[in-house]
Amino acid sequence: MSARVLLAGSGGREHATAWKLSQSPNVGEIFVAPGNGGTALIGTNLPLKSTDIDGIVAAAKANRIDFYLASSDDPQPLGLVDRLRAGGALGYGPSAAAARIEGSKAWAKGFMARRGIPTAEGESFDNYAGAAAYIESLPEGKLWVKASGLAAGKGAVGCETRETALATAREMLIDRQFGASSDTVVIERDMPGWETSAHAFCDGKTAVLWPFATDYKRALTGGEGLNTGGMGSYSPSAGVSAALAEEVKRVVVDPVIAGMAAEGHPYNGTLFPGIMVTAEGPKIVEYNARSGDPETQVLLPRLESDLYEVARAAALGDLGSVDIRWSARPAVGVVVASRGYPESFETGFPITGLDAVDSGVFVFHAGTKAVEDGFVTSGGRVCTVVAMGETMAEARARAYDNARRISFANAYYRTDIALEAV
Ligand code: GLY
Repeated sequence: MSARVLLAGSGGREHATAWKLSQSPNVGEIFVAPGNGGTALIGTNLPLKSTDIDGIVAAAKANRIDFYLASSDDPQPLGLVDRLRAGGALGYGPSAAAARIEGSKAWAKGFMARRGIPTAEGESFDNYAGAAAYIESLPEGKLWVKASGLAAGKGAVGCETRETALATAREMLIDRQFGASSDTVVIERDMPGWETSAHAFCDGKTAVLWPFATDYKRALTGGEGLNTGGMGSYSPSAGVSAALAEEVKRVVVDPVIAGMAAEGHPYNGTLFPGIMVTAEGPKIVEYNARSGDPETQVLLPRLESDLYEVARAAALGDLGSVDIRWSARPAVGVVVASRGYPESFETGFPITGLDAVDSGVFVFHAGTKAVEDGFVTSGGRVCTVVAMGETMAEARARAYDNARRISFANAYYRTDIALEAV
């Protein structure tokens, strides 16, 4: 019987996930809450926020959903997987207890300390006096002040000086900049190194790594500008050898699987550890309890296996029963954004060129809205143009050649995605 599958979220990641699921002969209908202009081409968008857990649970019942695949950050800490499972659907994603690994940075810090997982030196505080005393006690140097809860990707602030760290801690803890999300903050010392994004399918007992991807977080070419959700990505990550991948699995992935199971809340779902490769080896920047955006857009086109079958086996605790194969061909994704993102930008502009891309090139929508005669912009990150190639250079050239064909007022993209890898 063909499965009726649900996703929650509205990014390019959800479009890429819906596209990959739609390749499965065992997937019937796909529903996305709330989805975007691209997901509407593949399945049915449900007009519900991804945090509206009651609404999504009711819609899942009304639409006879069999399977939920967790991809975005908000719903899991609010218990969506637990609720759907209780209602009889199968869910691939962490329980609310397991999703604390992303939903509460303070909890994750404690978990990493208990389990001996390498990460930045740091402490959690729920009061400004304690945070300030800790900041004053640290040697001069860059610090990070992070809201413990989810803050739409804006909750981690790098502070070059002690004064900026104190001001940031004050904004979060006293001015409640991120509301309840910054009632607790984590203060960390900076970790020098280079970053890569790991992902793993997890079934509660075992984990299987995906290839690695590199994300470009800053808004502007050359790494200038503000932090964003991600302006582009490529896979495989330059510098990640087979030995490093093995070390990542041993040092920061397997201990999550073992530790979560030992503490009574096995980790089921995709785990996305953000890694800093330091002189002492890989360390955790943060754990994410879902897949990355835009990393997913370059990773899923490389997955040769049936995503639905893999996720279903993992949800059933039986990852060992499926064969997981990846293409050796590299992929490059360029995010085409509204100029001004992540601060202020205008939307509602008609988009042209979405159908003008070469065969085999993907345009995964994010901030798009369907209108009578096409699509208009509706967000900061508008779409990701993804191309594969025999080499990274070929994939990169194709991605840019096709990204240039997408046009709307105030369109902007970085010109250095994957440059380091060619
Ligand atoms: N690209 C980083 C993230 O999805 O959190």
